[in-house]
Amino acid sequence: MDILSLAQNVVDRAEGPLTQARTVAKVLGDRRTPLLLALSKGLITPLYRAAFLASAAGAGILRPLATRPCDLDTLAERLEITGGDRQLLRAWLDIGVQLGEFDRREGCYRLRSTAARTLARADNDAVAAALEEVMRFHLPVLLDGPRMLREGRRFSLGDQDGAVIARSSLVVRSFVEEAVERTLDTTTPVHLLEIGCGSGVYVRHAARLNPRLTALAIDLQPEVADRAAKNMAAWGLAERVETRQGDLRTLDLQPRFDLVTLHNNIYYFAPEERVEVLERARALLAPGGRLLLTTSCRGGHIGLEVLNLWFTYADFGGPLPREDELTDQLERAGFTDVRADRIVPGEQFHAFTGTNPPAPAAQL
Ligand SMILES: C[S@@+](CC[C@H](N)C(=O)[O-])C[C@H]1O[C@@H](n2cnc3c(N)ncnc32)[C@H](O)[C@@H]1O
Repeated sequence: MDILSLAQNVVDRAEGPLTQARTVAKVLGDRRTPLLLALSKGLITPLYRAAFLASAAGAGILRPLATRPCDLDTLAERLEITGGDRQLLRAWLDIGVQLGEFDRREGCYRLRSTAARTLARADNDAVAAALEEVMRFHLPVLLDGPRMLREGRRFSLGDQDGAVIARSSLVVRSFVEEAVERTLDTTTPVHLLEIGCGSGVYVRHAARLNPRLTALAIDLQPEVADRAAKNMAAWGLAERVETRQGDLRTLDLQPRFDLVTLHNNIYYFAPEERVEVLERARALLAPGGRLLLTTSCRGGHIGLEVLNLWFTYADFGGPLPREDELTDQLERAGFTDVRADRIVPGEQFHAFTGTNPPAPAAQL
């Protein structure tokens, strides 16, 4: 080695750490660094984790991964991803590893975080779907609200994934079931109309409580009605429950129901049409028949307020109701004995009930 090379070598060796130290000092001295670090830790990484988990749960890979480790090919097959895109799937899965949600050992992925393992449980499906709802539908209204207003854009029903919403609605399942238990007559045969039935679980609940109950379950969205019909068949209820796709406002229905239920969907109707919709529901009841309507109301936690915002930015439906406003609308629709019961103390989740007045006695 000549003297010049030796000198250069020494300079290089000395300069490497020196340059690194200078860079570190520069980065640490930048007053934006603490902000960036705080943002990354407190906001960005949790958001990445939530998005990754929502996507993994929605794609249906959390549950198989909870059972056993799966390699890339198994996961790709499950997701119907073929060819070169499998390598892109690997890149996505590896982000999950970097985020600490998944683990990869000997070419196989498994669940690592408590959140991933908890969301994978079948009894937490509604919570996993609620996370997906937040990511897919709540975030866009927060992110794009002002831009949508500037461009005159609104959300439409097509922006919602009916299947995800039908599952996520079940986060309030125990409250709705409680309301059904309080309202349903279990001593006589009951003919039930459920409007906007979603998965159909509340019809099943009513059918279990009253073995002589028969029902018509309707839902506006074809894929939701289709799933509900399949569920009824799988639950052995196809004989007792007819499922139909259609809009309450236009379906040709015979007015002979003892009970009409609407769960978690009054805000799918614009405020100015709610009285008319409720009148229609009442007209479908036999005299003396009852209505049970469960809904989240205004003034609840931030998740409900963002849901409310979404519906106010939609070209259908409208804001979540206020308790007194909906009570008034039910009375204007002709219901008597209108009651609003708060099912969960401290939460803005209410069960509204009303009666279709019995026909006046015939004059002699
Ligand atoms: C948030 S989901 C609730 C589903 C179910 N009731 C539950 O609580 O799990 C609202 C449902 O109401 C249905 N829906 C909305 N407007 C309707 C209408 N005009 N007629 C029938 N169904 C309607 C939607 O298609 C959607 O499936």
